[in-house]
Amino acid sequence: MPSLLLLAGPVLLTLWAIHCMIRRSKRHSIDYLPGPSRKTYFFRPTEFGEADLNFTKEYGAAIRTTTTFGRDVLFTSDPKAIQYIMNTSGYNFPKPADRRVTLEMATGRGPVWAEGTAREAVTKTRRDFLANGKPQVVNVLTKLHRTTLDAIGEAAFGYNFHAIDQKEESVLAKAYDNLLPKSSMHRPDFSLIFETFLGFLPSWLVKLGITVPVGRFKLLSNYMRVAEKVAQEIIDKQTDLYLKGKEGSKDVMSLLVRANLSEDPRTKLSSKEIIPQMTTLFLAGHDTAATTTAWFLYELAKYPECQTRIREEIAAVKAVVAERGDTEPTIADLDGMEYTLAETLSFHGIVANLSREATRDDVIPLQFPQKTRYNDTVTSIPVRKGQYTILSLFAYNRLTQVWGPDADKWKPERFLSGSLKESQKVNVGVIVNVMSFSSGLRSCVGWRFAVLEMQAILMEFIEKFEFTLAPNVEIYPAFAGLMSPMVRGSNELAAEMPLIVKPL
Ligand code: HEM
Repeated sequence: MPSLLLLAGPVLLTLWAIHCMIRRSKRHSIDYLPGPSRKTYFFRPTEFGEADLNFTKEYGAAIRTTTTFGRDVLFTSDPKAIQYIMNTSGYNFPKPADRRVTLEMATGRGPVWAEGTAREAVTKTRRDFLANGKPQVVNVLTKLHRTTLDAIGEAAFGYNFHAIDQKEESVLAKAYDNLLPKSSMHRPDFSLIFETFLGFLPSWLVKLGITVPVGRFKLLSNYMRVAEKVAQEIIDKQTDLYLKGKEGSKDVMSLLVRANLSEDPRTKLSSKEIIPQMTTLFLAGHDTAATTTAWFLYELAKYPECQTRIREEIAAVKAVVAERGDTEPTIADLDGMEYTLAETLSFHGIVANLSREATRDDVIPLQFPQKTRYNDTVTSIPVRKGQYTILSLFAYNRLTQVWGPDADKWKPERFLSGSLKESQKVNVGVIVNVMSFSSGLRSCVGWRFAVLEMQAILMEFIEKFEFTLAPNVEIYPAFAGLMSPMVRGSNELAAEMPLIVKPL
């Protein structure tokens, strides 16, 4: 009997090993694709960006990388593959569980829709720049964060966050202060493993898990408490106004308040359902636009001739507006300036990549044939149910096959010349084929708002100020939740964009 027991151990171990090998061989259905070595078993989000470009340059636009727990990832920047995953077969490629955990920590549960403009906030920041009338080094990113937070507050919620004034009430602005860099940079392996592990748990346990009071989890759950409190205050204030017959007419909030008060169970939304939608908008609606605009100002500071050209373009638009007898440009006027912005959206897409997971066996088509490890070429990639996929928006936006041999250079003329038409054979994204707002079913709901808002900001700022690079300051993009500007050799837990601002 004891000898039987002794035998059982090795047999069980062998069976387990065979089971693992079978699972592994299934998992490795994309093993024939080239890619970096598997020695890094933990997926480090801070490596996004530069790594996206290096992988793509070295191995191609559809390759294999590895994520936490050694899981094989189809890593692609191929336009047709992205179009297939995000648009054509979008329902079959939802966000993987571990990414949903990350999003829940930063935004709560649930996105929503928004439109509007932001003039008051922009004007206030412009006055703020002018405080002493002399050229000065300004961290324009902080100013832009406050501008865009107040703008989304006014436009979507009819609420003043007082971010620009920095009044007592600006608790949300304070809670946001470098929240993403602090919670994304230098994460220990434990934190990465724990977050991936949470993705395997039922959602009620995830909710509990993300409140563990350590590191990134503590930081984000403290922030979420503030955001939820502010959201509740807005609901209370707007409900009160609505009941007094003074509801804001077109902001998103008045729609939510009406849904909250609805007697009809089909249209009723509880506060529990509304709050995550609001906290999603708080974050998605301001940090993104602020960071993109900061990169734009950086490029204009680097290329003064482009700054002059844009200033002339703004002056021309303003002259047309004045001739019409208007005081403000219309949306059509702003749309006329779209292409300058497109290069920043493309070159400085601040969401580096997105993850998706196949819910069924599928075949992903490729636009650019991919060389395999065995030196043959494939034009599509069969994937099994469960295949983890990373779509590199960052690498796609700089793909030479799409944007030309100088894709790694900031070049606004790219969108003016019309020379891209031939290479842009696949329609992806929501605007001029750039992927910065994602594409298809889950693309950015605020892209239109963001484009108009950024143009409104740029019009005010570039007309009134000249931006130049601060001496001896090297700025680089770091993955800090978003592709954020950081100063080489400075605090890595703070995103910043110091530029010299001179009133004109
Ligand atoms: C330059 C500015 C912006 C950029 C680059 C940007 C980019 C993106 C990207 C790449 C996604 C897809 C995320 C994913 O699939 O996980 C997204 C989603 C989203 N964005 Fe934006 N965004 C910007 C501004 C805004 C603004 C101003 C708002 C709100 C007014 C907004 C609201 C949202 C929401 C609610 C989603 C979630 C949509 C969904 O999952 O169905 N974004 N954005």
